[in-house]
This record gives sequence, structure tokens and C-alpha cells, in this order.
Amino acid sequence: MVKWKDKKEFWISGGKLADPAAGKIRSGSVLVQKGLITEIQWQKKVETDLPVLDVEGRLLAPGFIDIHTHLREPGDEDKETIASGTAAAMAGGYTSILCMANTDPVVDDPSVVEYIIRRAEAAGNCRVYVTGAVTKGIKGDHISEFFHLKKAGIVALSDDGKYIDNSRVMRTALEYAGMLGLPVIAHCEDTYLTDESQMNESYVSTRLGLKGAHTASEEIAVARDIRLAELTGAHLHIAHVSAAGSLGLIKAAKEKGIRVTAEASPHHLTLDESMLETYDRNLKVNPPLRGSADISALRSALKDGTIDCIATDHAPHTDIDKQVEFDFAPPGMTGLETAFAQLHTELVITGELELIDLIRMMTTGPADVIGLPGGRLQEGEPADLVLIDPGEEWVYKKEIIRSKACNSPLVGKKFTGRVQGVFLEGRWRSAVS
Ligand code: DOR
Repeated sequence: MVKWKDKKEFWISGGKLADPAAGKIRSGSVLVQKGLITEIQWQKKVETDLPVLDVEGRLLAPGFIDIHTHLREPGDEDKETIASGTAAAMAGGYTSILCMANTDPVVDDPSVVEYIIRRAEAAGNCRVYVTGAVTKGIKGDHISEFFHLKKAGIVALSDDGKYIDNSRVMRTALEYAGMLGLPVIAHCEDTYLTDESQMNESYVSTRLGLKGAHTASEEIAVARDIRLAELTGAHLHIAHVSAAGSLGLIKAAKEKGIRVTAEASPHHLTLDESMLETYDRNLKVNPPLRGSADISALRSALKDGTIDCIATDHAPHTDIDKQVEFDFAPPGMTGLETAFAQLHTELVITGELELIDLIRMMTTGPADVIGLPGGRLQEGEPADLVLIDPGEEWVYKKEIIRSKACNSPLVGKKFTGRVQGVFLEGRWRSAVS
């Protein structure tokens, strides 16, 4: 395991470097000085008098960026806090995250934005960017004061967790967001079609006796929001796409030049609705896990550019919240600490996706969607990096979880490929205790 102190000037050398912007993984070395990447040499070893951290056999990449994290603070600190959520993020290789607005109180007022930014600074973990709520209280009726929220520091708007049923409200939101250059992240599920649903509507839902949500509920919402993005010219980002039909709509919209981007979550890319046979409440998510045809369409969309990035939708809940009858369990699963390993194991090791493409989807992809700094291996930029052992086999055990919540269906699962830690402005933070 890497042991490294807080050195101010050092080379990281001997391993491979992932350069997602160039689409390459090659031998290389990085010089870190006062928290910045000051030199990159595309050779395995460097001649230097400075200290050298030897990362032989490992891969160094720009730190991951998650643009869909629920930190739960303020209001639901029993589920997660800004400190615990950001610690979990770093353990998963993330150096920046974008937190969602469905807290209590909702992020619909500058005071809440300032509170989150202050608490994130106090936690001293990864960088935290803030999403403001599209509507007051995430109630879908009246838009929040976008200008004041932007002045307080938000970088995007979202009512994630809820679809904005009222098309007029969504149109107005996109018009104002467009003027301010803020992307609107849409949770696309038609509320009337998903009402009281517990999983995907299919043969499996009928057999399990659980009320289903048809993929049409997502496709209809995606179609409306794309049309409104076209009408307003604003940037629409579609969160956690799960249905093949939505992908067709997104692809066509992109071809038409509409400003639409989209993300896929690790769970929608890897977990099948049939797993719900166990009635594991940790598999209950919104939108729901779908069938194999949707999963393979989603995987293809990673490769053809329809999906721009991977985002976790890390949604922590307590055991008490989840250990109730299936119908009463809140939707959501954690994901920050397993995203890379899960996708590396399921998609990269199996040969379905190139490692550099996975890394791009977790770095430059999300950075470009929101317009965040980072995600690139570049001289002069902060040394926000992730160190990965692609060959390490490990088990995701409850004891090692840094999140406050354990609501992951992946507890006990064996993965290949492990995040060893991150450098945040050159300071090493181990993921492995
Ligand atoms: O499953 C989900 N849980 N999906 C969402 O969009 C919201 C999230 C939450 O906040 O728990």
C-alpha cells in the first residue's frame, strides 16, 4: 500500500497515466509542486533529485467527478453528512462532487447554498459544487430565485427526485436558467405514470406483485423536456437515464443540435430488475432498475456518445428507513465507493468498454457537462488525481464503508480494480485503511 506524507514537491512515477482528453493510457510521470501539476513526462522513470512516489503497476488518472450526489445535509444527517459523504467520495476516487438540492431545507435559498459551501470547507475533503432547486421547496409550482442562487455559488439547477409536472413551470425555468448559463438537470419520470410504483413494469413486477413503472413514464418526460430545451435553447441535462427509448430521443435531439446531455448511473448499467426477486429494498431506486434490453442499450449509448458521463446518484438512507415493507422503503442506493470498481469489473474486465473510456466518463465527461474545472491531466492545474490498482481484487465489506449509510446491494461483492486513494491539490488521501 502506498505510504506517502504531505510532501510539497514530488514526482509520481513508475506507473501508467490516463489522459482522458487524449484518449490514451501510457507510461508517464507527474511532477506535483505546491498542489499543482507542474510537469508531465511521458516516460516511466524520471531523472530527479526530488522525492519520487513509485506507483509501479498502478494507474494515475485525473480525480473522478460525480455530478449527482445526495449529501443529505442539511436536514437528514442521520443518512449522511457533508463530511461523511465527501469522505465516501474520496474513497471512491472522486475529487469533486456536485450535490443535489433535495435537502431539508431545500437548496432554494442562498443561505442554504452558503451553509453547504461552509460545511464542505470545514470537512476539508473533496471539492463540493452545489445544485440549486428549480422550484421552491421542490414542489414544482414556482421557480426559485435563480439569480440569487447563482450569486451564492450554485453551478446547476435540479429538482432531482421529482419530475416537474407543470410544463409551463419547466419552460419558464429553462428560459431563466438559459439566460444565466445554468444547466437544468431533469429527473424524467412522469409522476402520473409512476404513481406508487416500486419497480419496472414488466413480467417480473407482475410475478412479484409489485406495482411497476413503465419505461414510457421516462420516455414521455424525456420527450417533453427535450422539446422545451429546443424551444428555449437552454442546456438540459437528463439525470439517470434508464430506458432504451429515452436514449433514442436523446440521440435524435443531439443530432438536431439541441443542447441536451445525459448521464447513466452505475446501477442502471449493471443491475437487472430480476434481482428484485429477493425483495432487497436496496435495489429500489428511481427510476427503477430495468431489463436486459435497456441495460444493453445503455451500454451501447456509453460508446456512441448518447450518454455523456457516469453519475452515481449516491442516495444514502438509514437501515431504519430501508428495513420496512418494500412499498414503504425510500428509493435510492449508495454508489460513490463502488462506482469505479463495479463498472471496471462488469464492463472493462469483460472487454465491453475500454478502461480509458470508463475514466473519460468519470472525469472529462462530467466536467464538460456542467462546465466544472478538473477532469483533465494538465500542467498548471490543481493536482487532483486518483490512484488505481486495476488488478487488485477486493470485497466491498460493511466495515470499510465511509458513507454513513450502507444501503448498497453490493455489500459483500467481490470486485477487480480498486481505488487506492486520491491526491487533492497534491495531498494524499488513502482510500484503504
Ligand atoms: O432513487 C433515487 N433516490 N432517485 C432519485 O432521483 C432521488 C434519490 C433520493 O434522493 O433518495
